[in-house]
Amino acid sequence: MELRSIKQRFDIIGDNPVLDRALEIAVQVASTDLSVLITGESGVGKEVIPQIIHINSPRKHNQYIAVNCGAIPEGTIDSELFGHEKGSFTGAFETRKGYFEVADGGTLFLDEVAELPLSTQVRLLRVIQSGEFIKVGSSKAQKTDVRVIAATNVNLPRAIRAGKFREDLYYRLNTVPITVPPLRERPGDVHLLFKKFALDFADKYNMPAIRLTPEAVILLESFRWPGNVRQLKSIAEQISVIEHNRIIGLDILKKYLPKDSSSQLPARIEGHGADYLTDRDIIFKVLYQLRQEIEELKQRLNHETAAPTSRISSNQELSGNIEETAVVDYDPDSEDVESNPTDENESPLSLQKVNEELIIKALEKHNGKRKPASIELGISERTLYRKIKELNLDL
Ligand SMILES: Nc1ncnc2c1ncn2[C@@H]1O[C@H](COP(=O)(O)OP(=O)(O)OP(=O)(O)O)[C@@H](O)[C@H]1O
Ligand SMILES: [Mg+2]
Repeated sequence: MELRSIKQRFDIIGDNPVLDRALEIAVQVASTDLSVLITGESGVGKEVIPQIIHINSPRKHNQYIAVNCGAIPEGTIDSELFGHEKGSFTGAFETRKGYFEVADGGTLFLDEVAELPLSTQVRLLRVIQSGEFIKVGSSKAQKTDVRVIAATNVNLPRAIRAGKFREDLYYRLNTVPITVPPLRERPGDVHLLFKKFALDFADKYNMPAIRLTPEAVILLESFRWPGNVRQLKSIAEQISVIEHNRIIGLDILKKYLPKDSSSQLPARIEGHGADYLTDRDIIFKVLYQLRQEIEELKQRLNHETAAPTSRISSNQELSGNIEETAVVDYDPDSEDVESNPTDENESPLSLQKVNEELIIKALEKHNGKRKPASIELGISERTLYRKIKELNLDL
């Protein structure tokens, strides 16, 4: 099956090459019986991969069973996977088939495989290697023909070092490794996914779909997404349900993004994105330096003897809050700068210099193109045009 039709069939959004590669490998190995280990952070979209493999394999007319190993109590997991004989433990009133028996000829997806107890890992290794298993309470080995696909968001080499996962099982499962990349490494997919979820929820709740302003898209794409696609989906749902205004700007979006430091760290964006953040960093450093100069000038004008206090005490503070205070909040068009109580006597000339610096830097970065520069500055293209005229910038 072609990649595009796979995506359509399984409702997969995105055109990131690393994700595409993962899907391609899934299709390629589908026809074999090799074990597959799918790794990736929580919420990246691992669960669809074993389905793709099964559907594209000669086993597609037989059973596909997905088992969440983390959700089954340790005491019953062997019985669930391998079955048990009548009377083998208290409550075993009947002989019961396990998933390895039921899925004979089909595919068994062991999700959260790192959660399996070590004793179960031994049994699992045996069935993968020899196709044989023994029911709990039995002494007779049975044959089965099951293709095993496993997934985990746990770092298995680390779990092996900690003595929680068997190394031999790891190598056996990892015959074909498939890694699904985290969302922060595919920023180009973020808005595509958001738009898809916005449409889905509009449909589900019978409301018009929400849309993001260009500034909100920039924030969405530079956010770190520690919970990956699952987190993005949940935020799209919350906004779809709660907000009356269907156009979502920066301030509204910010309310829904967690404030904890790991989420706020800007994601590294490939291509233009990394430059974008670095340049912004520089622009806002210039801004703060200029503000400091303004403070000094103000104090000198007022014949004050006390040393001027800096608004930013260190670079660390500046970079630590860059997402929160500078990149996101600053709007040269807003009244914020002027209305700050400490800036009552601020020299209009210095403020003009600040604006000028910002505008020049943004325009330089975008080769004089006003539209992207205005988006970066958080003002409309028309306002930028006016500012250029007002400031008499020879551009
Ligand atoms: N590329 C995508 N296109 C559309 N929806 C996606 C995509 N990737 C993930 N999703 C959706 O995001 C949610 C989380 O994905 P999934 O359950 O596969 O995560 P996971 O990798 O298995 O995470 P965990 O390790 O926590 O189990 C699901 O609702 C899934 O449908
Ligand atoms: Mg999962």
